[in-house]
Amino acid sequence: MELVRPNIKFKKSFYEAAEEMQGQESEGHLVTDELTSEQVFIDHVNRKLDFETSTTLPEKYVNETTFWIIEDGEYAGRISVRHRLTEALETYGGHIGYVIRPKFRKRGLATKALKEILKYTKESLDLEKVLLTTDEDNIPSQKVILSNGGVRDKSLDGKIDKWRYWIEL
Ligand SMILES: CC(C)(COP(=O)(O)OP(=O)(O)OC[C@H]1O[C@@H](n2cnc3c(N)ncnc32)[C@H](O)[C@@H]1OP(=O)(O)O)[C@@H](O)C(=O)NCCC(=O)NCCS
Repeated sequence: MELVRPNIKFKKSFYEAAEEMQGQESEGHLVTDELTSEQVFIDHVNRKLDFETSTTLPEKYVNETTFWIIEDGEYAGRISVRHRLTEALETYGGHIGYVIRPKFRKRGLATKALKEILKYTKESLDLEKVLLTTDEDNIPSQKVILSNGGVRDKSLDGKIDKWRYWIEL
């Protein structure tokens, strides 16, 4: 498993992933209808890369570094870290989000990818701890977070339907 920046050379397996995950809520951007031409895909990749450093983001968006998770040379998923929290992110979204393609699940990739992005975050971003949130019933994601030192923050329990975890860097 390696984390790489979004790169058009993974087009074939990225399209396969889009096909596999079509219509799944957590993967809203992977809609094959949107990937109608090579240029649309290139724009998608460039947008992800721009998000890391852009100073002209749409309102309420923050800088975010995205990595693609590559396994056996194929796009297996993505993981990203937001450089700071807004009020909405502090409640619902958190700093780090990830998704693994169904066919690559249950082989430890998310656990490893989170470990790697935590290293990157500690070395490259001005953060001392990161927030991750999951749905209350997302056991796999909760395990991924706990395996990486997550500590549950129950301060918003009963007010929101997310579970929130902090990881110290
Ligand atoms: C959550 C998700 C990223 C986990 O990815 P993954 O690569 O399969 O996770 P791992 O292989 O590292 O598994 C982590 C743990 O969850 C367990 N697990 C994985 N899938 C599971 C499932 N469907 N049911 C029960 N346990 C599961 C693994 O056995 C492992 O447990 P362990 O730590 O006790 O060994 C993946 O299921 C996914 O992409 N889901 C949809 C998007 C999503 O929920 N993203 C996270 C939003 S917070």
